Amino acid sequence: MKLGKYEIEHPLILGPMAGVTDWAFRTICAELGANITVTEMVSSRALVYKDQKSAKLLRKNEGSLCGAQIFGNNPEIMAEAAKLALEISGCDFLDINMGCPMPKIANSGDGCGLMRTPELAGQIVEAVVKAVDVPVTVKCRLGWDKGSINVLDFTKRMEQSGAAMVAVHGRTRSMLYSGVADWDYIRKVKDQLSIPVIANGDIVDGASALRCMKWTGADGLMIGRATFGDPWIFEEVKAAMSGEDVPGRPVLKDRIALAVKQFELSEADHGEKIACLEARKHFAWYLRGVRNASFYKREISSLTTMEDIYRVAKDIVRDLE
Ligand SMILES: Cc1cc2nc3c(=O)[nH]c(=O)nc-3n(C[C@H](O)[C@H](O)[C@H](O)COP(=O)(O)O)c2cc1C
Repeated sequence: MKLGKYEIEHPLILGPMAGVTDWAFRTICAELGANITVTEMVSSRALVYKDQKSAKLLRKNEGSLCGAQIFGNNPEIMAEAAKLALEISGCDFLDINMGCPMPKIANSGDGCGLMRTPELAGQIVEAVVKAVDVPVTVKCRLGWDKGSINVLDFTKRMEQSGAAMVAVHGRTRSMLYSGVADWDYIRKVKDQLSIPVIANGDIVDGASALRCMKWTGADGLMIGRATFGDPWIFEEVKAAMSGEDVPGRPVLKDRIALAVKQFELSEADHGEKIACLEARKHFAWYLRGVRNASFYKREISSLTTMEDIYRVAKDIVRDLE
């Protein structure tokens, strides 16, 4: 697949997820085979108002192509924010969020709210494309709700407005994250566009990745929630796509070692306090499916120092391997 000057074979994208895909986690996923990553979404207004917290979310990771994702509904502000986002991050492409379903965002016409105003969405893409010299991509859903699915017209318009790639999450805004992603629509989008189309929604392992690829004919896949505590899913999907034997997960000791590495990267990025708050969530995910882990999950929920992390990690390996 071509994205601007980049040629990417079998794009495997870590979906942008606010509160999850920070620099540390993106770095880890890139090491394990995500060849494209996208930052957590950042408000265009916050960037233009020089909000430092938002700017920090845009840190580019190594090891993959990295996109900076912004949201908003004003073409001039989005164009300005896009320039700032790239200046701050040095990211390889700029992604526009047209899929966020959260009421605070979508009801104000941002995120998936833009799917109700396709003309404005097109103007935003045009303005951003004019303002920056990297590929501009769009992430959207099927539409606002079941009665107003417009992803076919919408993505056509995005292409005509200059988008270099679209990622389609096969749910409507009203479905949030429940129900089943509809891959039929993604296939229809793929059939009608010339730019690369990325399929997203309900890819949870190598088998579902292969099924989704076959079903949609998409140029690449984006994985979201199935990566929680399991960045090895990228190795699994990569193996499945190349017809190789799917590797099993590493043993607990090695999984915990990778989790600790992620928390060390997180400390380097955010400092100890935030790193520990983030680790409370990620560490518990790394322990999903591990038997007799409930005592340690409770310990994890009150981590406050890196020393706590090292101690709990050591105890887990000693007691649960
Ligand atoms: C906690 C969480 C945060 C998310 N944040 C974003 C975001 O910032 N930007 C975005 O485009 N999508 C966001 N998403 C949507 C995911 O990127 C993805 O489209 C969705 O989870 C469907 O893929 P999946 O079935 O593989 O999880 C988020 C999803 C979750 C669960």
